Amino acid sequence: MKLTFIGAGNMAEAIVSGIIKKQVTAAADICVTDISEDRLMHFFMKYGVSNSGDNAFAVEQSDVVVLSVKPQIFPEVWPEIEAALKPDALVISIMAGIPSETIAGEKPIRVVRVMPNTPSLVGEGAAGIAAGKRATDADLQVAEKLMGAVGITKVVEEEELHAITALSGSGPAYVFYLLEGMLEAADQMGLEKEVARELALATVIGATKLMQETGEAADALRKKVTSKGGTTETAINTMEKKGVKDAIVAALFAAQARSKELANG
Ligand SMILES: NC(=O)c1ccc[n+]([C@@H]2O[C@H](COP(=O)([O-])OP(=O)(O)OC[C@H]3O[C@@H](n4cnc5c(N)ncnc54)[C@H](OP(=O)(O)O)[C@@H]3O)[C@@H](O)[C@H]2O)c1
Repeated sequence: MKLTFIGAGNMAEAIVSGIIKKQVTAAADICVTDISEDRLMHFFMKYGVSNSGDNAFAVEQSDVVVLSVKPQIFPEVWPEIEAALKPDALVISIMAGIPSETIAGEKPIRVVRVMPNTPSLVGEGAAGIAAGKRATDADLQVAEKLMGAVGITKVVEEEELHAITALSGSGPAYVFYLLEGMLEAADQMGLEKEVARELALATVIGATKLMQETGEAADALRKKVTSKGGTTETAINTMEKKGVKDAIVAALFAAQARSKELANG
């Protein structure tokens, strides 16, 4: 299976690094394209993959083409890629917000869409995967194998990718925002920055692991650590009064709506 990534950016690098490390695809079968000579050289030197500054040339030799450019670049690159696709090539798009039907148009092109997130860069990603109209189960499996090298994957309906974008696509930013607040308070309380950072990070990782390993619901675990009249109860009551949970729910709905708007141009 010859694989080409159109756009040798951060997300392409996460996936290329993961699939080589997990031996999903050999470096010899991977090609990356980019407009930046530096990026092309970086991929060649670090991963031993082939590279090209010519999208059409790379696509002509490929069984799977991964669209990993920014969505706004898509209209510019697609005509030459589409014209160069092998008749049975699979197109996997990790571009946010561009529907499979916009990619395939009237052509019988098989498209699978993926909504990854940035923890893929450290092998801890969470990706939603959806089949376009003509994609087969085997095509979905190809995408699952690629993305499985950098994290967990869930197959969903394409329409659900808007919710996935709001949940796990944008999700890392919510966690960073929570950490910003925790660290701002720790700083104001006079804690040393490095000490606070390590404790806050271990707290988020530990709490998540606890929820994952016990299989318990978030509210059940929260109630377990909230004793009556204690510090945690005081903190949670303050958050409730300030409408923190309502704000989070509203934020995810806003992100989902924005994703739909972007998809509709
Ligand atoms: N990062 C995320 O958290 C995340 C999450 C979900 C989905 N995605 C999606 O993943 C995709 C890639 O994101 P990214 O963060 O990896 O972006 P990125 O780092 O900007 O990578 C895109 C690469 O494509 C290159 N490029 C520009 N024009 C090109 C052309 N005509 N032909 C070939 N390559 C070209 C860019 O070069 P220049 O920089 O020189 O322009 C850049 O190196 C996006 O569509 C995004 O929506 C990202």
